[in-house]
Amino acid sequence: GSIAKFAVRMPLPPVLAPYSVSGTTSYYRMTMKEVAAAILPGMPTTKVRTYNGKFPGPLIKARSGQRVVVEQTNGLGQPVSVHLHGAHVPESSDGGPMDLIQPGGSKTYTYPNQQPHANLWFHDHAHHQESEHVYRGLSGYYLLTDDTEQQLPLPSGQFDVSIALREARFDQAGQLVYAMDDWPNRNVILVNGKPWPYFEVAARKYRLRVFNQSNGRFFDLKLSDGSEFTLIGGDGGLLAKPYRATVVRLSPGERADIVVDFSRYPVGSKVVLENGLGPGPVEHVGKVMRFDVTRTATDNSSVPSTLRTLPDLPPATVNRRFDLSMDEDGRPDPVGYINGRTYDHHRVDTEIAYGSTEVWTVTNTNQLAPHNFHMHLVMFRVLERNGQPVTEGFETGLKDTVSILAGETVKLQATFTGYRGTYVYHCHLFDHSAMGMMGNFRVS
Ligand code: C2O
Ligand code: CU
Repeated sequence: GSIAKFAVRMPLPPVLAPYSVSGTTSYYRMTMKEVAAAILPGMPTTKVRTYNGKFPGPLIKARSGQRVVVEQTNGLGQPVSVHLHGAHVPESSDGGPMDLIQPGGSKTYTYPNQQPHANLWFHDHAHHQESEHVYRGLSGYYLLTDDTEQQLPLPSGQFDVSIALREARFDQAGQLVYAMDDWPNRNVILVNGKPWPYFEVAARKYRLRVFNQSNGRFFDLKLSDGSEFTLIGGDGGLLAKPYRATVVRLSPGERADIVVDFSRYPVGSKVVLENGLGPGPVEHVGKVMRFDVTRTATDNSSVPSTLRTLPDLPPATVNRRFDLSMDEDGRPDPVGYINGRTYDHHRVDTEIAYGSTEVWTVTNTNQLAPHNFHMHLVMFRVLERNGQPVTEGFETGLKDTVSILAGETVKLQATFTGYRGTYVYHCHLFDHSAMGMMGNFRVS
């Protein structure tokens, strides 16, 4: 509770350069290793597990249609698996929970990037270990762009900033404390790896790509003066058109792409990005970071009234139901379930015909526990939330993760094309996927 707020500058994610580029393929190498990172001001360094020693993790910049090949070497003491969240990839490069890289081993992942621009990220997915691994630092950023996005006059360059949020709990010695299902007690908010940082901005428009890389924490993000921002995109890139909003909800794994116009604030102003959702003490979890408006700047950027054309929604031919639940009677090792069954990597739970379009109705049947739902391989659309059609706002775009609070139901539509194979869907609260709230689907 003694960690000062707004005392450290928010770093930008370190961009990883390819070691080779040939034709339309860029080659990268990463080694997973434990390092000591300076996270808490005035405290000893913190041991973290990282990609390439980076905390926050590195950022890969990719372009649609240009292949990325990443050789990952496991320099840690436990098996790992690297999943590129939101990517449309063959099963062999999906980094599923059982596709492990043993300690000392390597694996080469090929990302075809045969999909439109999107705000992707990568993280560990080793079964039962993903929660602790990601908590201890195994996550990174992957921005996929394309001509559609590049042609728009949105804020770019230094005015396009990636911001990853997550929760953490530290002991007196400044070390990360991990326990399964402990996320409600993790009351330190890390932003790009620093606690409640500040970030100096010019009085102009910025594009902020916000990633919720938390294990369990949801955020209702808003500016401290309650003013409006512009929602332009989410998980799967830009929305069809911008929406004005004062709050955006992000569950673990989701991304929000927003434009904030700091020109409304006089130079010298400080505006706090706040979080309206618990659990935890509001004086800690209610604050995320602070923007300090320190200078004026010219601004030729704008947010056009049309951003992109979203793919048509073909008629669906299959309807399915998924009930998410976990033990919430206080037993010591709660288990997570989908349709009453806990994850078994030998079992295919859902058989899907290649090319088909399906509507999935997903309900959180718990009384208290929040969940969300993430599918590998495909982006989906959110048709309904609690029986109401989703016709405006953040959830109108392409999504790969959707929040589902206790008692809520969402209706999703996806088309299963591109690759055949077995992939997972799961709750993206990593403690819950580690507890078994996950299933396999096979496209064939
Ligand atoms: Cu971001 Cu299967 O996960
Ligand atoms: Cu869950």
